[in-house]
Amino acid sequence: MELHKVRIVQKLHLVPIERRLEALYEGGFNTFRLSTKDVFLDMLTDSGTNAMSDNQLAAMMQGDDAYAGSQSFYRLEKAVQDVLGKKYLLPVHQGRAAENIIALAYVKKGSLVPMNYHFTTAMAHITDKGGQIVELLYDEAYVVNSDHPFKGNMNIEKLEEVIKRHSAANIPFIRMEASTNLIGGQPFSVQNLRDVRAIADKYGIRIVLDCSLLGENAYLVLKREEEFKNSDMATVLKTMTGLADLCYFSARKISSSRGGGMCTDRLEIMKELEALVPLYEGFLTYGGISIREIEAMAVGLYETLDETMICQSPNFIKYLVDSLDAKGVPMIKPAGVLGAHVDAMQVCAHIPQTEYPAGALAAALFLISGIRGMERGSISNQRDEEGNETYADMELLRLAVPRRVFTLSQIKYVEDRMHWLYDNRELIGGLRFVYEPPVLRFFMGGLEPTSDWPQKLMAKFKADFGESL
Ligand code: F0G
Repeated sequence: MELHKVRIVQKLHLVPIERRLEALYEGGFNTFRLSTKDVFLDMLTDSGTNAMSDNQLAAMMQGDDAYAGSQSFYRLEKAVQDVLGKKYLLPVHQGRAAENIIALAYVKKGSLVPMNYHFTTAMAHITDKGGQIVELLYDEAYVVNSDHPFKGNMNIEKLEEVIKRHSAANIPFIRMEASTNLIGGQPFSVQNLRDVRAIADKYGIRIVLDCSLLGENAYLVLKREEEFKNSDMATVLKTMTGLADLCYFSARKISSSRGGGMCTDRLEIMKELEALVPLYEGFLTYGGISIREIEAMAVGLYETLDETMICQSPNFIKYLVDSLDAKGVPMIKPAGVLGAHVDAMQVCAHIPQTEYPAGALAAALFLISGIRGMERGSISNQRDEEGNETYADMELLRLAVPRRVFTLSQIKYVEDRMHWLYDNRELIGGLRFVYEPPVLRFFMGGLEPTSDWPQKLMAKFKADFGESL
C-alpha cells in the first residue's frame, strides 16, 4: 500500500472516447504527441514525473543562485559523495547530455561499445560519433515468461570474446545499464558487475555505469541476491558504483527531480570530461540545471536510500504484472522496475513487426482508457547505416509507474482496461509511418492506422461500456 500521504493534488481529465480518437489522429498515433489534457493516467514515463517530497520542495527555497560557486552545487556534490560514493561531480542538464559528453570524449570512428543492452539516447550519441554498440545479454533476458531474477546481467563469456575479436584498443568503455530499460526494467546482480569488472581489469577497459535507474536496481538486489538479503540500500548502491570508473545519471529518474550528472573518483577522467561541460551544458557548478532543481536533486538522492520510498513503484508494478498475468495477459516476467511491460508480440501476434505491434497496442490502450503508455519496440529502434529497418528483439508496451504518483485504485483501472483490451485484441490493427524523422524517430514521428480498426475498436467499446467514458 501507499507509504506516504497525498498533500498536493492535480486534477485529471477523462475525456470521451470520441475525443480520444480525434487526439490519436491529431498526434499521428504516437503517444509522445498527445496533449495531457486528453490523457487520463499518464504512464508514458517516470522521467521528470516522479512525485517530489515535501523536503525536496522545501530545499528548493534555499537555492543559492550564482553563476559560479553556488552553495547549492556544494550540497549536491556532498550528496553524490555520500550516496554514490564518488568524489568528483560534473552536472549536466539531463542524462543524455552526459551520454553526449562521454561519447564526445571517448568514442571515435571504429569504436565499439559493449553494453548489457542499449538505451535509445545512449546508442544515438555513440553512433552519432561514428561508433557502434554491441549488446551482450544472456538468452534468458529475451524470455518473456521467466523467473530469472537478473535478466539485465551482462554475458561475461561473450564480453571476453568481443574484446578479443575487436581488440581492447577499439573499446573505449563497457557500458552497464542499471535496471535495463528496454527489456522491461530488468536488473543486473552485483556479482555480475563484479565479473564485468574482472574482465575490464584484465583488458584495461573503463566501465561506465548508467545509474539512472540504480536505486530500483539496488532495491531488487536487496530482494533477490542472497549475499545482500540483510544489507541496506546505502551499501548496495556504493558497492555497485564502486565497481565503475565513471557513473552518470538522469536525475529526472534517480532523484525525482530534473537534471543529471557524471561522477568519478578518477581525476584524469574528470579532467577529460570537464572541458566539455561549459561548452555544451553550462558552468561547472550548475551544468545547465536550475539551482532550485539542484537542491531538489541533492535531497532526492538521499531519499533514494529510503526503502519505504524506493519500494512503492516496484511493488505496484509487481501487483499490476502479477494480476494481469493471472488473467492471461502476456507480461514481461518477473516484474521489473520503471513500469509494467506488456508483450505486444504476443498480444498482437496477428500484426507483423513491419506494422509496429507495440505502437498499435499503445494507441489502442489509449483509445479505450485514456491511459498513455509508451511504445518500446521497433518504432523506438533506429535504422541501420544503409537506412534499413532494424526490428526490435522485443515489442513492448511500457506502462510506467512513476514513484508515488498513482493510487492503487488507479492501478486497478489499468488492470481492468488492459484485460478488456486483451479480450478484444483481434480488433487491433497495424500502423505505418507517414512522417519519419531521421534521428530518434519515436519522439515526433507520425503514423496512421493501416485500416479503420480504431473505429471498429471504438464501436466494440461502446457496445460493452455504453455511455461510460
Ligand atoms: N539512461 C536510462 C537508463 C534512461 O532510462 C534514460 C531516460 C536516460 C539514460 C536518458 O536520460 O531522459 O534524462 O536524458 N529514460 C526516459 C524513459 C526518457 O522514459 O525511459 P534523460
